[in-house]
Amino acid sequence: MTSKTDVILVVDFGGQYCHLIARRIRELNVYSEIVPPNITVDEVRELISSLNVKGMILSGGPSSVYEPGSPKIDPQILDMGLPILGLCYGHQLIAHLLGGEVKRGNRQEYGVAHVTIDKPVGVLRGLDRTENVWMSHGDTVQSLPGEFEVLAHTENCPVAAYRHLRKPIYGLQWHPEVVHTEHGTLMLRNFVFEVCGCEANWRPSSLIDEKIREIRKGVGEGRAIIALSGGIDSSTSAIIAAKALGKKLTAVFVDHGFMREGEPEFVKRTFEELGVKVIVVDARNRFFQKIRGVTDPEGKRRIIGREFIRVFEEIARETGAEHLIQGTIYPDRIESGFRKHSDKIKSHHNVAGLPTRIEFKTIIEPLRDLYKDEVRKLAEALGLPDEIVHRQPFPGPGLAVRIMGEVTPEKVELLRRADRIVSEEIERSGLNDELWQYFAVLTDTKSTGVKGDARAYGYVVAIRAVKSQEAMTASFAELPYKILERISTRITNEIPSVTRVVYDITHKPPATIEWE
Ligand code: XMP
Repeated sequence: MTSKTDVILVVDFGGQYCHLIARRIRELNVYSEIVPPNITVDEVRELISSLNVKGMILSGGPSSVYEPGSPKIDPQILDMGLPILGLCYGHQLIAHLLGGEVKRGNRQEYGVAHVTIDKPVGVLRGLDRTENVWMSHGDTVQSLPGEFEVLAHTENCPVAAYRHLRKPIYGLQWHPEVVHTEHGTLMLRNFVFEVCGCEANWRPSSLIDEKIREIRKGVGEGRAIIALSGGIDSSTSAIIAAKALGKKLTAVFVDHGFMREGEPEFVKRTFEELGVKVIVVDARNRFFQKIRGVTDPEGKRRIIGREFIRVFEEIARETGAEHLIQGTIYPDRIESGFRKHSDKIKSHHNVAGLPTRIEFKTIIEPLRDLYKDEVRKLAEALGLPDEIVHRQPFPGPGLAVRIMGEVTPEKVELLRRADRIVSEEIERSGLNDELWQYFAVLTDTKSTGVKGDARAYGYVVAIRAVKSQEAMTASFAELPYKILERISTRITNEIPSVTRVVYDITHKPPATIEWE
């Protein structure tokens, strides 16, 4: 987001699709930024003058506008001449704030609804007389304030879309950002280009300059530190931070002992070649001691997260860093339950583990609003090597959450070998480009086998391979049996203590991608 690119602000009322709205706008090559409902008129004015803010979208949300304490925006924002589009809760809120009536509907609408377009103007220009749209609401706008007109209705919803007669203010009861709204992209295009007059001149790479500025401003004359895992998120953040701060940045790679084969060496070599100062901390003993005897998955995550921070804090003190840069991306935050209305699924290492004993002056998360595939585009634009850009995601707690039950150095070694075989075979087959992740899991089940002529009793290894867009959902990959057979044969031959290999055929949901 530079001063030359146009910006759409998205006000977050807690709806599950809020970030999707911002993402859809970015897909139209217009930058969008998410802001909280309590943003003031002065702050909006400030943003309009510091950035090219051309419009605002009010997101959906789980509350009812007439409930006391439900989130609202300052009504004066509706009076600034700024084009505004309300979606679902946002649609109801505009009507409510300006004197219309919002009530619990006689019938709720969830799923695809057929809407009749009464007037195909503005946001609705170019639409058919009836459209399939995605609805998810209990409340409806029953009557509009005087200066508004109805643009669309459904059987259950008299005011499914409206516009102000003199101001560029629109409301849609449905969700154009969801793919099930057939012409949703056209509706957003209409708003962004026709109503707001934006130019499609933003590219993911434009973010780089903006983020460099943000980091420089945050860190000022101080020094910063970043935990580098070698995954795409922390790598991309580290490169941007290094561009912003040069020698004032220290990247720290903590080897907790749960890394894949060759990982610490790879990270050090790659980043040094890219001109980033990296400290590799060998903390393997510390972590093994702490995690000894722990079998509970969240317990493991907590201990590893906490210890990681202790190590990290020590280095931060040694380097005199007062600022922390993190590679957190949007799905990490939502799955860790950072938003009021979203449930915690598991403690993502880089989110749950914010430093507690060190008071960093600022914590900067340059990628906080991006999805993984957007980070990939950014990494490509930054010229990061292919091995990093197309690297599989790897959880912060590493192999420890792929070993069911107690984690021991022997089990880690065994899993490392199995994991290498999975990678080698999948990469040799060329299927890796189509997969989000592929890895081995060491279960805590033992099973009988026969090796040579003797009975064997050994470990069961599971193979997980999934396809996904952004890890919020995933489907198990239909790997050819020939490849699974090669993997299974190699693992049982090359690792004597394994007697059985199984394939995980569960989608996410209901399973998560990682086993713990
Ligand atoms: P789940 O298992 O929740 O994983 O479906 C979704 C994606 O996130 C990765 N993952 C993590 N990434 N820190 C991370 O940076 C973590 O603690 C963590 N746990 C899971 C996982 O590999 C998958 O790509």
